[in-house]
Amino acid sequence: MVALGSVALALSLAACGGEGAGDDSSTSGDKPADLTIGVSMPTQTSERWIADGNSVKEKLTAKGYKVDLQYANDDIPTQSQQVDQMITQGADVLIIAAIDGTALSSQLQAAADKKIPVIAYDRLIRDSKNVDFYVSFDNYKVGVAQANALLTGLGLLKADGSKGTATGPFNIELFAGSLDDNNAHFFFSGAMDTLKPFIDAGTLKVKSGQTKIEQVAILRWQQETAQKRMEDLLTKSYNDGSKVQGVLSPYDGLSRGIITALQNAGYGSAANPMPPVTGQDAEIASVKLINDGVQNSTIFKDTRLLAEQAVIAAEAFLQDKTPTANDTKTYDNGVKVVPSYLLPVVTVYKDNIKKELIDSGYYTAEEVAAGQAK
Ligand code: GAL
Repeated sequence: MVALGSVALALSLAACGGEGAGDDSSTSGDKPADLTIGVSMPTQTSERWIADGNSVKEKLTAKGYKVDLQYANDDIPTQSQQVDQMITQGADVLIIAAIDGTALSSQLQAAADKKIPVIAYDRLIRDSKNVDFYVSFDNYKVGVAQANALLTGLGLLKADGSKGTATGPFNIELFAGSLDDNNAHFFFSGAMDTLKPFIDAGTLKVKSGQTKIEQVAILRWQQETAQKRMEDLLTKSYNDGSKVQGVLSPYDGLSRGIITALQNAGYGSAANPMPPVTGQDAEIASVKLINDGVQNSTIFKDTRLLAEQAVIAAEAFLQDKTPTANDTKTYDNGVKVVPSYLLPVVTVYKDNIKKELIDSGYYTAEEVAAGQAK
């Protein structure tokens, strides 16, 4: 924030005799080059957050803003420290994708004390009144879409959503994300609301008996942890010759761990086919697996659109305006309902990779074939 703009604003406010005269937090008169946006991302171990960070930074830089982009290595104290530092170094807006949605309360209080608006990016920040806006996707619908993809993969539904020809019963297993991530709960409840009628009817059998989110959650969304859990499930619940016939997975990284465990146990041949495994994020390594017929599907969340919404919200705050929300009911963070802008999602199977991911410019055909983004 630059002194000149602030002084000008303080003067204009004083002239109007308005409330808040002398408040140096207004940035509406400042030039982009004098404004810094702090962008705090959880980790670089997952490609999606790298894509998110890059998109947000590119879009803000193109508009002339300064950007302080930090990744926290999935370590909560590191993220707290990085956000603290953004605040002391004079950030004018914060965009945060939290590792643990409940761990940033004191940083957010410090931001509020300095009147720095906070935008929660994709993951809701919980238990704090100092979250000003939330940009994300419709996370409940992500879970519904994952469950529908699983049902379609099993043949219980057709691609158009109508009843399929398969009758089951099918053995399935369930996975959820990190319990400290608000999204994990939305994904799981969307999926379970959709699968429950099939489980109740006996068409789907969760052979391990593990159906509660606490039993199936994977801390920090770690691929290795998901692989280990799948290995344990195979050893404990499928040692009688029975087969896993479908796996609900909420995120591509987990899906790849699950697929590795299944492959190591001999799945993936004509005699012992790979069961449908769902996913999320359209990470390039998983898009290749889908293209190769190994992973069933993923839920594509266009990080370019999310970044764009974050930038629109940040600019609104910088101009002393309120960003436009399209949902003011769903995201109660435990203290208040945070006004949100939610984007739609798309289920990607092998047959719409081209339309959704290549024709839209998200990846090139070469990247999909190689399983690696440039
Ligand atoms: C969630 C996010 C998912 C996935 C997951 C693991 O918060 O909504 O899209 O990225 O984290 O990183």
